[in-house]
Amino acid sequence: MDSFRYDDGELFGEGVRLTDLAAHVGTPTYVYSAATLTGHYDRLAAAFAPLRPLICYSVKSCSNIHVLRSLAARGCGMDVVSGGELRRARLAGVPGERIVFAGVGKTEREIADALGGSAGAHEIDDAPIAQFNVESEPEYELIASIARTMNARGVAAIRVNPAIEAGHHAYVATGAAHSKFGVPPEHARELIRRFAHEKHLSLAGIHLHLGSSIADTAPFVEAVRKALELIDALARDGVTVTALDLGGGFAADYESDTSPSYTEYAAALVPLLRERAAAGLRIILEPGRTISANAGVLLTRVLYVKLTGPKKYIVCDAGMHTLIRPALYGSFHFVWPAAVAPQHEPPRRAERLDLPGLEPCDVVGPVCESADFLARERPLPPLARGDLLAVFSAGAYGMSMASRYNSHPLPAEVLIDGSRARIIRRRESPEDLTLHEIEPEDVPF
Ligand SMILES: Cc1ncc(COP(=O)(O)O)c(C=O)c1O
Repeated sequence: MDSFRYDDGELFGEGVRLTDLAAHVGTPTYVYSAATLTGHYDRLAAAFAPLRPLICYSVKSCSNIHVLRSLAARGCGMDVVSGGELRRARLAGVPGERIVFAGVGKTEREIADALGGSAGAHEIDDAPIAQFNVESEPEYELIASIARTMNARGVAAIRVNPAIEAGHHAYVATGAAHSKFGVPPEHARELIRRFAHEKHLSLAGIHLHLGSSIADTAPFVEAVRKALELIDALARDGVTVTALDLGGGFAADYESDTSPSYTEYAAALVPLLRERAAAGLRIILEPGRTISANAGVLLTRVLYVKLTGPKKYIVCDAGMHTLIRPALYGSFHFVWPAAVAPQHEPPRRAERLDLPGLEPCDVVGPVCESADFLARERPLPPLARGDLLAVFSAGAYGMSMASRYNSHPLPAEVLIDGSRARIIRRRESPEDLTLHEIEPEDVPF
């Protein structure tokens, strides 16, 4: 699952005791394990090796460039959804040929940049990306016209909406019929027929992304079958589809052993695609959460223990501004003290642990919103001001969705590698908060 373990009542990330780390770095802090990140990537790559896929880690899930670098060093590509993420991927040294670009709202500037048109504006290699994952016909037309103007040659896949409901919450179910993403299969067929051989933007690929945290292989199988039907229909039209991008969506273990292993996902999907891949269909995967979620914990300090009637609130220095998933999706994160008495070492990560002396608590943050909680009615060992809590499986959509709401500076990020811990993003200071609030300047109409 990951490299965060209790030893004699103390939580370690690989070889680093997390209470020592927090004493030096402060809280709230996101802590990542390099071994977990790269171990997940390696196991996923091994499971899908028969398809020789291009694996593009989904930058949005955890986007610190040092996290990206540790994956890029193993040959991992990147899935980006904005010019900012594209810049991060390039800064991390990922070659353009291993970058795919999705998202429903690409701007002209982002498109030109992805085509290699930053005109030396950056100090980084801006080689054209491997593929645009196009979400609509107007978007295709805009990218094609920019490519024409630049005399560039882009490659695109059309995102197909397969009308499949999947994902842990309605907000992350992106393959449902009513969602804003992609186009219906019939429209995709027509677009590929028209534009597969277009000189400046060949549209000969199919992109899928059903949703996130899909702890079941069946929706993937159904989507791949639909995509293969479309590929066969296009073959009958005389058009060869060259790439099938399956998107992301594999689940993470928020509770112990809840998600299928990579070999289970691969066992369901590889047989459907093996011959196609051997015949030249390029398979692309865009995993995010399954790589990064369990690779991170969030460390937070208890500020107050507040008793209100029958309720016990554990007020922490992290909250919805640091980790929004509980407030936004009602998501579960295992929360536990980083140092506990031997009888309180958690035997597994689960919502209800049956250990002696636990008391139900709401773990809340400092933000002025009732949605500001990390856990509700959670049985926890006795806690006091100053105790350190770990919020587990917080590597994905944690720091990347963190905000400065209520003017809280963003947390620090630390990457552990063995017994070495390195700060990979310094904690913001109160001064950082107002950096861009300049003396008023007249707008030069
Ligand atoms: C197009 C696309 N690809 C990949 C992902 C990554 O999903 P996950 O983190 O569930 O693997 C997302 C997530 O929203 C996405 O929108």
